[in-house]
Amino acid sequence: MTRPVIAIDGPAGAGKSTIAKIVAERLNFIYIDTGAMYRAVTLEFLATNQPFSEELVTKIAEKINITFKSEPGCNHVYVDGKEVTEAIRSVVVTNNVSKVSAVVGVREAMVSAQREIGSVGGVVMDGRDIGTVVFPQAEVKVFLTANVVERAKRRYEELKNKGQKVNLEVLTQEIAQRDKFDSERKVSPLCCAKNAHYLDTSHLDINAVVDAILHLCKV
Ligand code: DC
Repeated sequence: MTRPVIAIDGPAGAGKSTIAKIVAERLNFIYIDTGAMYRAVTLEFLATNQPFSEELVTKIAEKINITFKSEPGCNHVYVDGKEVTEAIRSVVVTNNVSKVSAVVGVREAMVSAQREIGSVGGVVMDGRDIGTVVFPQAEVKVFLTANVVERAKRRYEELKNKGQKVNLEVLTQEIAQRDKFDSERKVSPLCCAKNAHYLDTSHLDINAVVDAILHLCKV
């Protein structure tokens, strides 16, 4: 029997990557951060210094070679063998990624790559459309969310710990804006799949969420 696909979707800052990484480690599954893939395309687009166009970002998405290497505590991301783990988290990438990820051609290229990676099973994949579009047949689907204030606080702590100067109010506004854009876009908008387990993590710690997902995987 092939090992299952675990799809974890939800808005920015809900803790998806932290949770998905731990779940994958516990199950000895591969972890794929699909947001990192859209971020990598955005980074490559910004490096061209050319104005935004759907044709340009689609061409980049069709050609790009993204690979991952997971280590305890860090999920390394590479484009054509060059490490971009930190670069894809920059403010400029974050501020441009919604626009890039809303382009049909970009989504088609990424979804096709994600399906190929997940085709053998044994994968925990997080994103916005994994349970709805990429793997609608996934054995386990989770929609992870938390209220916007809590999510902004978590992102604030994360960035502060990395030594970045951040303003909580600005972060809250940016997250709310990104939620709106990701939920209202025409192609594959962020939404909870009909048969996904809805988990509000506003008042749950990491271990409780991991245990809840591992429990779903056993049933
Ligand atoms: O999870 P993240 O913040 O790294 O995601 C970056 C952006 O990519 C986010 O604005 C939404 C988009 N995204 C998407 O459209 N589909 C996915 N499967 C994953 C991310």
